Amino acid sequence: MSLQGKHIVLGISGSIAAYKSAVLTRLLIKKGAEVQIVITPAGREFITSVTLSALSGKPVVSEFFAQGDGTWHSHVELGLWADLMVVAPATAATLGKMANGIADNMLITTYLSMKAPVFVAPAMDLDMFQHITTQRNLETLQRDGVRIIDPATGELASHLEGKGRMEEPEQIVAILEQHFSEKSDLAGKRILITAGPTYERIDPVRFIGNFSSGKMGFALAEECAARGAEVWLITGPTALSLSHPAIRRIDVESAGEMHAAALQTFPEMDMAILSAAVADYRPEQMAKRKIKRTEGEGLSLTLIPNPDIAAALGHIKREGQLLIGFALETDNEEVNALRKMERKQLDFIILNSLRDEGAGFGHDTNKVTILSRSGTKRSFELQTKKEVARNIIDTTFSSSQIIY
Ligand code: PMT
Repeated sequence: MSLQGKHIVLGISGSIAAYKSAVLTRLLIKKGAEVQIVITPAGREFITSVTLSALSGKPVVSEFFAQGDGTWHSHVELGLWADLMVVAPATAATLGKMANGIADNMLITTYLSMKAPVFVAPAMDLDMFQHITTQRNLETLQRDGVRIIDPATGELASHLEGKGRMEEPEQIVAILEQHFSEKSDLAGKRILITAGPTYERIDPVRFIGNFSSGKMGFALAEECAARGAEVWLITGPTALSLSHPAIRRIDVESAGEMHAAALQTFPEMDMAILSAAVADYRPEQMAKRKIKRTEGEGLSLTLIPNPDIAAALGHIKREGQLLIGFALETDNEEVNALRKMERKQLDFIILNSLRDEGAGFGHDTNKVTILSRSGTKRSFELQTKKEVARNIIDTTFSSSQIIY
């Protein structure tokens, strides 16, 4: 049982879905977890502490001080005791307070002291869930590393139909179990990942770019972090956000900026995975003012080469460091990929082709072949980028333990 002996802080806020927290507590206890419940004043209006303490076998914490003898309830100790905190149900108000650090109840102070991963299971009416404020708070929390357990769609307490029902306790337990069973084979490793496109400015309003969304690189960053690595993610312009707290994000715009950030970071790394679609050329000069259209005349730009980041890292790579590149091809795929691996001194190259449906730029899926310097080749069917990321790490890192 993956929850056996785990210390779980269950936060309960004021929603009708609080009745499900009783079931959640019972399921967690049955799985062998120790559960400490922290409830907000509004939560107590929906479910009694007697029910919850009977199920959890521990007094329920709600006030900063115990009413009877004035004993201080230490949120700091709870933050150190817990292996995980889950707030279920998480109301719009509690999410807002968590996102903004409004520490006016014991649940929020416990959250702010928490050293362990935090999950939230939102529960509210569909309009409240969809409201821009709630969505913004969820985005903030996600950026802060909190994992969101998406609410289900169905009949709500208001009798309206829509998204906002707290996920069922059985599902929440399954998600928490999965969290604890995630591999930690990259623990202690430092990994650099490049992602997204680069933009090369032509003038103040135009640039040369490409269609990379960043999805492949972000999936790799999440996978490495979930497996215990510390990740440095250098990304070009993208609308994506991250959910894992062990990922440090460095935003850049141009190939030059990505090159400088990668060179600075790489020496401390155990491994680098270069999935960014870096512009090979940039305008020799950026016009200071917007270039005006001249009727009937063309426009010529002189482009000069950008630094090759992969080749630069290949050049300074020391023994024990693993360097993995991508090859995005449209023809003569394998020959071109092998040449790139050789020229840039990569240990592995991940080939993806724009000729494959659902592969490459923008999709949530990709189809890759992993080629190694030592001559191995593994081809995969079309998979989600999350699955592709897992296979890349399994193939490159795990086999590198043997080869290098
Ligand atoms: O971001 P997505 O929408 O999810 O799309 C994913 C992807 C298609 C961008 C990704 O899977 C991918 O193929 N990335 C590499 C794209 C690319 O630029 O390939 P390339 O064959 O031109 O470059 C070869 C390798 O050298 C790559 O690792 C690239 O990051 C690196 N490179 C290239 C040029 C340069 N100046 N510096 C580099 O480091």
